[in-house]
Amino acid sequence: MTNFIDRLVLKKSIYKIQAEAARSPLKRSLGAFNLASLGVGAIIGAGIFVLTGQVASANAGPAIMISFIIAGIVCAVAGLCYAELSSILPVSGSAYTYAYGTLGEVGAWIMGWLLVLEYGVAASTVAVGWSGYIVSFAHELGINFPNIVVNGADSPMWATPLVQAVSAAGHTTFPLTGTFNLVGAIGIALVTLLLVIGISESATVNNIIVVIKVVVLLTFIAVGVSYINPANWQPFIPAPTGEPGEFGWSGILRGSAIIFFAYVGFEAVSTAAAEAKKPSRDVPIGILGSLIICTLIYMAVAAVMTGVVPYKELASPAPVAVAIDRMALSWADFPVAFSPTGHLNAISLMIKIGAVTGLSSVMLVLCYAQTRVFYNMSKDGLLPGAFSKIHPKTRTPWVGTILLGVVIAIAAAFLPISLLGDLVSLGTAVAFSIVCLSVIYMRIKHPEMERPFKVPGGVWTAGIGIALCLFLAWQNFAPMIHSATKGDMLPIYLLGGYLVIGVLIYIFYGYWNSKLGKGIDVTEEALESVGEAFAHGVDDKLK
Ligand code: ALA
Repeated sequence: MTNFIDRLVLKKSIYKIQAEAARSPLKRSLGAFNLASLGVGAIIGAGIFVLTGQVASANAGPAIMISFIIAGIVCAVAGLCYAELSSILPVSGSAYTYAYGTLGEVGAWIMGWLLVLEYGVAASTVAVGWSGYIVSFAHELGINFPNIVVNGADSPMWATPLVQAVSAAGHTTFPLTGTFNLVGAIGIALVTLLLVIGISESATVNNIIVVIKVVVLLTFIAVGVSYINPANWQPFIPAPTGEPGEFGWSGILRGSAIIFFAYVGFEAVSTAAAEAKKPSRDVPIGILGSLIICTLIYMAVAAVMTGVVPYKELASPAPVAVAIDRMALSWADFPVAFSPTGHLNAISLMIKIGAVTGLSSVMLVLCYAQTRVFYNMSKDGLLPGAFSKIHPKTRTPWVGTILLGVVIAIAAAFLPISLLGDLVSLGTAVAFSIVCLSVIYMRIKHPEMERPFKVPGGVWTAGIGIALCLFLAWQNFAPMIHSATKGDMLPIYLLGGYLVIGVLIYIFYGYWNSKLGKGIDVTEEALESVGEAFAHGVDDKLK
């Protein structure tokens, strides 16, 4: 029994992880500005372009601005913990590797499985949002998709996926609506193709896309400010309906748990620690800088959106576009023959093109991150070798990328965006709390270790981080239980099924094949394949 438990908490040596990082062939070329730009590129996506409409109309009203601040603060605390860990362990495997070095194998497995929610399911969510803007953009150009493949062009994108719960005659069932989101699935297929042939984003492409996203949102704010009707902000915090999470303070908290999604991706900055010029300074600046920039942009966009359109009318898959339409910017109209209305609107087009471009890059980053987490888990023997099988020509983990692409596309095609978004926020909040826990573990177990960056407040801040993350996770989980009591079991079934699959894979595969468990040193393997000696300084501690 003791052996079994020892096995479950078997840890990778922190010094070996450091040695591997020290031998990283990556060039240290990224400064604080590039890192912040990387963060903004990974952060701004479906959260602001899509979910704001849902949160404002159903949960928080104009007080969605407070929801953004709360979620931003939680991310900032988790971000500081990421910065401390990445300054000790500047590795690209990120949170999964931190957990393997601190909490041990089962902790690492749980983290890897949670990261599927953070990256894989998030990619599905963004794909559904992306399809909303594609459909709306195509509609302006006079191209209309048949309803069966876009979940009903006239209805909210999250309202009519193939599998959904509806209440009829007093009980809830899961009918197949007969529609599915083919457009979203095609989006994921295209991204998968790019990843298989080896096009991940370069820093230059990322910078261009970041500029497009930021310019589009700033234009929205600048143009929209003069159309704000302050009466729409009254009441700022709408009175609670009595249902948990619907308006009032409970709605604001529920809103921050959903909108937490909008910040997912900032930890991409910590995964680039191995490429930072001065990680101890640049990574914290990059993380906090990108979070502050995004929080300010998000609040301003939300202020304009809810100021221009009464919050109840924002229930749309493309709320930014709804606000632009409401502004009736006739000065930006220009005539075109093919449009159903005979004209197009330059600002509206710009917003839609910006959203499609921005969401595409987020899908790419998320799918990329997902394939790399599975790649690392497979290298460690916790997942089948297919996930780390590299194509001889493209040098990408192609089998794993395709397998993941299929699953992510199926989720995007069949599941409602609100449910997908909830799963992402829930999984991410729990994953962040494990990162905070890892900081506490390291402070207690390895106080001697040099920390180029230290979380101010140390274990106390990390402890508060755990509490905040779990509190937000609860805000996502409680509504699932609440709806289950009303007969809508879909979210609970999905989450339960997901956890069961994870446990079964670990018990029947990971446990038996773990290289660490078999005494095979993957770090050593990696180092030998590089053919170099351990880094100076770290060598001595290994002896
Ligand atoms: N933060 C990313 C988004 O909002 C995942 O799309």
